Amino acid sequence: MPTASSVLDALHIGNGHAPTLPDSLSPDRLRELAKVATYNERTQERASLVVKTPFTDETVASLPAGSPSDVKEAFRRARIAQKVWATRPYRERARIFKRYHDLILERNKEALDLIQLESGKTRYDAFLEVADVALVARYYAYHGAAALAKSHPLGFVPLLTSVEINHAPVGVVGIIAPWNYPLTMAITDAIPALLAGNAVVVKPAEQTPFTALLAAELLFEAGLPRDLLHMIPGDGPTLGPTLIANADYVHFTGSTEVGKLIAQQTSQRLIGCSLELGGKNPFIVLEDADLDKAVGGAMKDCFGSAGQLCVSAERLYVHASLFDDFVERFKFKIEALKIGPGFGWDIDMGSLASDEQLEKVTKHVKDAKSKGATVVVGGHPLPHLGPYFYAPTVLTGVTPQMTLFAEETFGPVVSIYPFNQDDEAVELANSTTYGLNAGVWSASTSRAQAVARRLECGTVNVNECYVASWGSTAAPMGGRKESGLGRRHGPEGILKYTEAQTIATQHLLPIGPIGGMAVEAFAGTILTGLKILRRLPGLR
Ligand code: NAI
Ligand code: MG
Repeated sequence: MPTASSVLDALHIGNGHAPTLPDSLSPDRLRELAKVATYNERTQERASLVVKTPFTDETVASLPAGSPSDVKEAFRRARIAQKVWATRPYRERARIFKRYHDLILERNKEALDLIQLESGKTRYDAFLEVADVALVARYYAYHGAAALAKSHPLGFVPLLTSVEINHAPVGVVGIIAPWNYPLTMAITDAIPALLAGNAVVVKPAEQTPFTALLAAELLFEAGLPRDLLHMIPGDGPTLGPTLIANADYVHFTGSTEVGKLIAQQTSQRLIGCSLELGGKNPFIVLEDADLDKAVGGAMKDCFGSAGQLCVSAERLYVHASLFDDFVERFKFKIEALKIGPGFGWDIDMGSLASDEQLEKVTKHVKDAKSKGATVVVGGHPLPHLGPYFYAPTVLTGVTPQMTLFAEETFGPVVSIYPFNQDDEAVELANSTTYGLNAGVWSASTSRAQAVARRLECGTVNVNECYVASWGSTAAPMGGRKESGLGRRHGPEGILKYTEAQTIATQHLLPIGPIGGMAVEAFAGTILTGLKILRRLPGLR
C-alpha cells in the first residue's frame, strides 16, 4: 500500500522555479500544510489543483486534488471520532476553541501572508478575517453552551408531565467554502458545528486551499482530535455530490446558482442546509446624514476585498439634495486610493481574485457603458498593477436594461441613484431578488433604524458598514429571499447543527380515564382543565 507521502509526491511548489513567497512562507512550509489535507491513500489516480497568486498569476503550487474517495474516507473517520466527541462536556470542547482564539491571534502574520497570497486582497482585508475567526471562536466558546442548554418548559398536564428538550449534534456536517474570505469561510462555520458535538468535512475553494489547511492545522494544534475535522481541497462539482450524499447537514457559502443546486441535493436526502449566497446590497444615505461619514462608509462598504464580498454595497441610494456633493466627494476619495499588490499595510485596495472575476466585472461595466451609464470614475482594468486589478468604479444613470442593475457584480463597481423620500428609498432598496445586507445613514439613529426595520435584509448597519453587523457575532447574519437560507452567528448559528429532542415523562397518573372513569367524563375534565389553565399565568 502506498505510504502517506506518496499522495503528496504529486505536490509541486512553484512552476519549475520557486514562487515569490512572503517572508513567513517557504516551500517546505507549504509542503507541511499540504499534509493537513485528508487523502485516501488507496486512490491512485488524481487530478491536480493549481494554486496561483492573483497578484501576479504565478503558480504557488500544484496540489493533489481531492477525489470522491477522499471525501468518503473523511466521513468514515469523522463518524468514528464524532461518537466519542459527542460524549465530551461542552466546557472541555470549549477549552480547545479558547486556545484556538489565542493561537490565531499569535500566528496572525503567517495567516495574513497566506490569505493575501491566495486571494490577492489587502493586508487590512486579510486582518479582518483573522479578527473574525477570533470573534467567532470566542463567542461560541463562551456562549454556545447557553444556546444548547437543556430546557424544561411546561408539559401537557402541569406537574404530572415533565418535559426536557435536548439539542443533539446532527453527526457529521459538510461545509463548502468560497475563495473570497478564504480563512474565515473555511473555519468559522465549522467552529459552532464542532462545539455542538459534530465532526466536520470541509471542501475549501479551489483557489485557496492552503489558507484553509492553516486554519485546520492551528485547530489541531489547539487540541482538536485529528479525525473531527477534514479539509479536502478540490473541485466543487467533483466533490460536492459525494459530500452531500454523506453529510447529515450541509452549510454552503457561494453563488446563488450553486446554492440552489445544493438545496436540491440536500432536499433529496431530507437533510438540513444553510446557504449564504449573493447580494445586491443597498446603501441608503438619508437627507440628514453626515456626508463625510457616509462617504467614508461607502468607501469601506464598496471596496473592501475589492468588492468581492457577499455583504458589500453595490447600490447607493443618496437623497437628491446630497447627490451631487456625495458623488463629488466619493470620486475624490476614490482617486486618492492606493491600489496594488503587496504585503504591506499601506495599500487600500487589492486585486480581484481570478480571471473569472475580472471577466465578470469587465463584462458588467462594458454592458452598462454600452447602454448609456455614466462612468464617474474607473470603469477599466489596471493591468499595469497586476493581471486581475480593476479600478474602483462608480456609475450613474444605471437602468434596469443593464445587467448590473439587478445582478451581483462581486467587484469594486457601484451604481448611485438619487431619491426624494424615505419611503421611496425603502421601496428601491427592496426591489431586488436578494436580501442579504444593507446600510442606512442618518444623523437621527431612530430615523435610520425605522428605515432599517422595513428593509427585507438579514442584516442592516446604521451609520457603519458591514463590519458592524458581521463582527457582532452574537447576532445572527444571513440572507432573505435569494440571498440564502438559515443564519450563521448567534444562537441560530449553533442550533442549526443540532436536532431538537423532546423527552416527555409522565408522573403518577397516566393521561386518560382512571379507576373506571368514563371516557366522556374524562374528556369533560380535560375541557374544564383547559379552560382553567388559560387563566392561570404560571401554567399557560
Ligand atoms: P461558486 O458558488 O461556484 O463557488 C463556491 C464554492 O462552491 C467553491 O468551493 C466551489 O468549489 C463550490 N462549488 C461550485 N460548484 C459546485 C457544485 N456543483 N457542487 C458543490 N460545490 C460546488 O462561486 P464562484 O464560481 O467561485 O463565483 C461565482 C460568483 O458567485 C461570484 O462572482 C459571486 O457573484 C458569487 N460568490 C458569492 C460568494 C458569497 O460570499 N456569497 C462567494 C463566492 C462567490
Ligand atoms: Mg462557480
